Amino acid sequence: MNFKDMDVVSIRDFSREQIEEILERSRQMLPYARGEKISKALEGKILGNLFFEPSTRTRLSFESAANRLGARVIDVSQTSETSMVKGETLADTIRMVEAYSDVIVLRHPHEGAARLAARFSNKPVINAGDGAGSHPTQTLLDLFTIEEELGNIEGMNVTLLGDLKYGRTAHSLAEALTVLGAKLTFVAPETLQMPKETVDRVKQLGGSPLITSDIEGIISSVDVLYVTRIQRERFPDPAEYQKVAGTYRVDREMLREAKKDMIVMHPLPRIDEIAPEVDSTPHAKYFKQAFNGIPVRMALLTLVLGVEV
Ligand code: NCD
Repeated sequence: MNFKDMDVVSIRDFSREQIEEILERSRQMLPYARGEKISKALEGKILGNLFFEPSTRTRLSFESAANRLGARVIDVSQTSETSMVKGETLADTIRMVEAYSDVIVLRHPHEGAARLAARFSNKPVINAGDGAGSHPTQTLLDLFTIEEELGNIEGMNVTLLGDLKYGRTAHSLAEALTVLGAKLTFVAPETLQMPKETVDRVKQLGGSPLITSDIEGIISSVDVLYVTRIQRERFPDPAEYQKVAGTYRVDREMLREAKKDMIVMHPLPRIDEIAPEVDSTPHAKYFKQAFNGIPVRMALLTLVLGVEV
């Protein structure tokens, strides 16, 4: 399959076979991600990292993935550092970064920004999160984590818990998990449930998600508990945030009812939705999940740049 020059804007850009190929390449990248093997596959390439929203993991793991494979990284982290404060459009900014780099990674507060950027760049654009829209590279590392930990995705009971309305990672993941044959449950306060568009899409893809606000009632049948943060910055009204803040908290008490090999995932950052006491249980996989950002982003960068490792 040819990924060269491909934009990665939405997980919908990939077929099931392509997702499987990326996960396979990610597995091959593990020794390079750990620094056990060395490769200069991306030597001479430049990654343009544009992060117009806060980020720790996504930005640093793209940078680390590129550096470990010998690429150089140029970056800006605030629109105030760019000529956008002078009124330059995103389209023109992207045209410039395209001229200075071989691949562009963009995080932006507006849904649709990555799609727009991809239209103005002939070089590959990778969406690192567009507002409440989607986060396809997070989805790939989430899928990779489930496969690595449980050996399989098909048939697994995956529960997405928390802010499913504004949490972009949950949107991309729900679609991809359905394509790969997992069974989904969406647990959220009513006002933060999965958007209709995503529910409809999951159904179109053949899924029949269970939609509820009750985590205690279903915890014993879950294979993967995917917890998300309530996305305070996306609430139009702070009072609305206060109403739902702290609704769910995964703690040891809740996990007493869980299967022994259930895994707890979280794209991070967490606030108070997973108690720190969970970190030392065998269920906790969120830090390993964050590490998996490296092999998966190595796989993506080598594929869209058309280089072998
Ligand atoms: C997520 C994001 O930015 O959407 N973080 C990440 O990329 N790992 C989740 C979040 O901010 O809650």
